[in-house]
Amino acid sequence: MAQIVRIDGIARYEGQSVTIRGWLQLKTGKGKLQFLRVRDGTGIIQAVVFQGAVSPEAFEAAKRLPLESSLIVTGIVRADSRAPGIPGGFELSASDLEVVQESAEYPIGPKEHGVEFLMDNRHLWLRSNRQWAILRVRATIIKAMRDWLDDNGFILVDTPILTPAAAEGTTTLFQTDYHGTPAFLAQSGQLYNEADIFAFSKVYCFGPTFRAEKSKTRRHLQEFWMVEPEIAFCRLEELLEIEEQYISYIVQTTLRERAAELATLERDTSALTKVTPPFARISYDEAINLINRASAEGVTVPPNDEPLPSLPWGEDFGAPHETFVASQFDKPVFVHHYPSQVKAFYMEPEPGRAEVCRSADLLAPEGYGEIIGGSERMSDPDLLAAAVERHRLPKEAYAWYLDLRRYGSVPHSGFGLGVERTVAWICGLDHIRETVPFPRMLNRLYP
Ligand code: 4AD
Ligand code: MG
Repeated sequence: MAQIVRIDGIARYEGQSVTIRGWLQLKTGKGKLQFLRVRDGTGIIQAVVFQGAVSPEAFEAAKRLPLESSLIVTGIVRADSRAPGIPGGFELSASDLEVVQESAEYPIGPKEHGVEFLMDNRHLWLRSNRQWAILRVRATIIKAMRDWLDDNGFILVDTPILTPAAAEGTTTLFQTDYHGTPAFLAQSGQLYNEADIFAFSKVYCFGPTFRAEKSKTRRHLQEFWMVEPEIAFCRLEELLEIEEQYISYIVQTTLRERAAELATLERDTSALTKVTPPFARISYDEAINLINRASAEGVTVPPNDEPLPSLPWGEDFGAPHETFVASQFDKPVFVHHYPSQVKAFYMEPEPGRAEVCRSADLLAPEGYGEIIGGSERMSDPDLLAAAVERHRLPKEAYAWYLDLRRYGSVPHSGFGLGVERTVAWICGLDHIRETVPFPRMLNRLYP
């Protein structure tokens, strides 16, 4: 063995003998030459095994080894601009090869597999280049989400997963038993964030959230990760400025740090490079007008090129409406002042126009839909008490939340950014199921 190195740093070892530990991803060869494509978690490199350069046992092993066997290869790093791999451009002239385990026959081959088969084998599918690239992009997106907040005066304050009441409406609650009383998995950390701002001013929580969504769509998971910033003394207008800075930072950081992975995914990044502040802002009223005009003209929307349905004022957007509105802009777009009746109970009504609230969703381009939901929160104790009643929520469970409006209430705002929808957008994926290692969907809890 020589010095153990990682494939992502292989360029530093040109001409030297190094050792790589990993798995056999692909094998070709004939006669005295075997080409082993080895994956070590950080990248992929081809090891060239020449019969005359290794022991007879090592050469026999190279010829025999099934895909996904674990192995340790030692050899000289040679530069070759045509060498395949990630990052590519180097290969290893093997001098030794040690088998750690000879794999059983691997169920995932180079041929096409159906999605259900791949999902049943998600624990193995994760090893494929595409899934590897997506999850590395995800890690960078999450890091960028946290870094920006940490660097801009936000304090991470964790919020509970087991909760006594709903944050986002009672229809998507997962109920569990808490020593004889019902408890619910958190749909959002927001209500607790609102308590935390009175101690820390600017906070965020980051964690898994749960929604018993009864529909199967390309955008919904039962369990998803969300970052939720909350800010004291902040109105809706200021919130949107924060959001556009935030999203731009996340996109530009990911483009810079994960160019190789995005290339592996064959993502056309030209639309993403445009994601810089400011983003357009349109009101729900304006969006409804755009939608209904286009619907009357017979406009169709991707992915299925179906006619855009018209929408009466007061109803929530469906996926085709979001896709259409976003397609009118070349960057993400804010839609603000939704009808209060389609939004959560805690949103501040617009003064003088109580039928709409000081809310804004951010719609991503290219048909990815809502990635952020945010709003100014009700700060008046009586208005909030009335909203809890109107939504038929159990008053006792929200007593602590109403308290926040009694002891130094301030205007405050916040938003939630869904990790998986952001990953799907930045990676350019058709479906949200590939954005999380082990997706939880309506009909899937395995593996
Ligand atoms: O719009 P939502 O429901 O907002 C909230 O939960 C607020 N409490 C956030 C806040 O103001 N602190 O969800 C926010 C985001 C959505 O825009 C979307 O990106 C994501 O969370 N999201 C989902 N992602 C995947 N699957 C689901 N079922 C999702 N539901 C929401
Ligand atoms: Mg929403």
